[in-house]
Amino acid sequence: MTDAHPAFSLEGQVALVTGGSQGIGLGIAEALGGAGARLLLVSRRKAKGEEAASALAARGITALPLAGDVSRQAEADAAVARALREWGRLDILVNNAAVLTRKLAQEMTEAELDRELAINVKGVFFCAVAASRPMMARRRGKVVNLASVGALIGLPERAFYSATKAAVAQLTRSLALEWAPHGINVNAIAPGFVRTDINRAYLEADPARLQRILAQIPWGRPGTPQDIGPLALYLASPASDYVTGQTFVIDGGWTIA
Ligand SMILES: NC(=O)c1ccc[n+]([C@@H]2O[C@H](COP(=O)([O-])OP(=O)(O)OC[C@H]3O[C@@H](n4cnc5c(N)ncnc54)[C@H](OP(=O)(O)O)[C@@H]3O)[C@@H](O)[C@H]2O)c1
Repeated sequence: MTDAHPAFSLEGQVALVTGGSQGIGLGIAEALGGAGARLLLVSRRKAKGEEAASALAARGITALPLAGDVSRQAEADAAVARALREWGRLDILVNNAAVLTRKLAQEMTEAELDRELAINVKGVFFCAVAASRPMMARRRGKVVNLASVGALIGLPERAFYSATKAAVAQLTRSLALEWAPHGINVNAIAPGFVRTDINRAYLEADPARLQRILAQIPWGRPGTPQDIGPLALYLASPASDYVTGQTFVIDGGWTIA
């Protein structure tokens, strides 16, 4: 990082990115790593994490993969402990891991609801609480949560997922208040349609449907993980020190149309 504004530098800092093995999480890892952060990437599938860490290493970014399930509190705690053991500090948490079951409400099973709740809400909470301890000790830290436009508008076939994302936006506000006296910023990103594994099959199965979705997006295309990374960098860096409790929409104008 040579000519960027110094407030965007993460030199010397350590970031934990959940779901950093692919998609938006990997786009965020590229942005934070490119600004100088060392990264711990937590996801369940070990091989995907290793693949992502190698791709980042090829770009000169230090990234360690860790197999873990954020919906288990002990594994969230273990991820934070690993970052501390490896590098002695944790400056940034990106709570990005989530799952989506796309179905009509009447078809959702109890097990599917439990899974979304456990990963999308409890996982965010467990990781945030685990990360807040070393952050409080240093009186500084950045938590960036991935919500969704579903936190703000209704989304058919994603009623419960949207509710989990509204919960993330609400956790963002409440934790921001609780932790402001300790120097920890908590903010959220609400992406619109970003082409990743979470929706690729759905977007590509029906070209006419894809065209209808694109017609609703003023920018005329789906987002990419690289569209999201720079906003996460802003929220993870000293540039956003006076920003907390907010949810930032990044959707090519979809929700203003
Ligand atoms: N793509 C979109 O259009 C869009 C729009 C709005 C919001 N978002 C949000 O953006 C975030 C990233 O989504 P994405 O589109 O990049 O999805 P994705 O491609 O499906 O990636 C999800 C990531 O989360 C990990 N993960 C899932 N469950 C986990 C668990 N229990 N513990 C640890 N890691 C877990 C996955 O790895 P493993 O499966 O190996 O665990 C993967 O790395 C999510 O919070 C999503 O809700 C996405």
